[in-house]
Amino acid sequence: MQIFLDTANIDQIKQAAGLGIISGVTTNPSLLAKETTADYETVTKKICSIIDGPVSVEVLSETADEMIKEARIKAKWAPNVNIKIPITPDGLTATSVLSEEGIDVNMTLCFSANQALLGALAGAAYVSIFVGRLDDVGQDGMQVVEDTIKILANYPDLEAQVIAASIRNPMHVTYAAMAGADVATVPYAVLMQMIQHPLTDAGIKRFLDDWKKVANK
Ligand code: G3P
Repeated sequence: MQIFLDTANIDQIKQAAGLGIISGVTTNPSLLAKETTADYETVTKKICSIIDGPVSVEVLSETADEMIKEARIKAKWAPNVNIKIPITPDGLTATSVLSEEGIDVNMTLCFSANQALLGALAGAAYVSIFVGRLDDVGQDGMQVVEDTIKILANYPDLEAQVIAASIRNPMHVTYAAMAGADVATVPYAVLMQMIQHPLTDAGIKRFLDDWKKVANK
């Protein structure tokens, strides 16, 4: 499974890139709005200069024609940009057209396996299942990831990769990996939680303390 970072924060992306384990970045308008500049183009180009892998950039238009126009412009911002399009009738139309043109689409805001299946049928390169937001409303988000993986495995012609998105904690990442998700896109804070374990810290301290005792003899 690949790990993408779910943020538009340049410092976090630089820090995470330095770990050598991040394969891509996903952004959305809410993540961008949290940063000091809301200039989507500048931020995207900066992210793409740090990360070689796929960088998802969301469209803000709502009709198919406008989404297509916007996507064509945004896809030119950098060679590794893919376009996040919400799963709506217009979004599916736009995805079909853009996929035919060779522009990678990340079909976003999928909350059911059927939505993800339709995204895959439209030619999306990625389908993003929002695990945390499903959990928030009392549904089992990871079950949707599992169902989608099972469905797509039946149809090898459908090439969409499954992204476990809206990740809220390290267990979401573990379960996404166990389910066979292609990607988990994780906030920086969750990535840090995945690295950290109190027994690791205690183990390092004990090793160093024991070594100092011998070294001081
Ligand atoms: O990748 C989609 C993700 O950013 C949504 O996360 O935490 O806003 O539900 P969240």
